[in-house]
Amino acid sequence: MQTKIFSTKEELNRSFTEYLKDILKDRERITMALSGGSTPKLLFDYWAKNHQHDIDWKSIFLFWGDERCVSPTDEQSNYNMTKKYLLDHVPVPERNIFRIKGENDPEAEAERYSTLLQMEVEIVNAVPSFDLIILGLGDDGHTASIFPQEIELWESNKLCVVATHPDSEQKRVSLSGKVINNAQHVAFLVTGDAKAEKVKEIIELRKNVKDIYPAAKVKPVSGNLIWFLDKEAGKLLDL
Ligand code: 6PG
Repeated sequence: MQTKIFSTKEELNRSFTEYLKDILKDRERITMALSGGSTPKLLFDYWAKNHQHDIDWKSIFLFWGDERCVSPTDEQSNYNMTKKYLLDHVPVPERNIFRIKGENDPEAEAERYSTLLQMEVEIVNAVPSFDLIILGLGDDGHTASIFPQEIELWESNKLCVVATHPDSEQKRVSLSGKVINNAQHVAFLVTGDAKAEKVKEIIELRKNVKDIYPAAKVKPVSGNLIWFLDKEAGKLLDL
């Protein structure tokens, strides 16, 4: 595991872009699962403004780690956010975009997306293996849409699960731990003061919290886990 702390969000975005370009090097096709949340929004905006042409968008096949069960035009849709901040501005071919359909019945959609992943993502040890999964960290220790209250979903045998947001009760479709930990690379993008305590607990005291916070269960078999933090999110770490 690697931890990188940046003094500005701009520097974080720049470094993450280099990291992505390295993964893309000499590859005709990579599969990348995106997350929702505020940090990717800044990254997408940064890419739209600075990297329209020097990232090989046609080689990137986009998926989502989780989606809220709302229509794709809803303000809360992760797809909608990505479309507005990124897809409308960079030359990603339409055929490279594989969204979770939040408008569908959640259970049926979790099944449909699992089947799609088995067809579109390389299979390693019988499980789809993304080249890169981007994750966020919730203030409560959730990641993708696996919340502490439903931590058992992490261990599901399914590839995609239906989760329920603990406060709003909104349904979500999320990748399970089985898929997340089978990725070639997993990158957490985390910014802001509000995340500092959980970042410290998860990075430095993982063993103590791995049964409490889903984000502490992220441990890809590839060994390639990296945290991109801004200085606010990383301020409590003893580095
Ligand atoms: C979502 C997510 C979720 C998110 C974290 C962090 O759809 O809500 O994918 O896991 O990444 O909640 O979100 P913020 O960056 O907005 O705090």
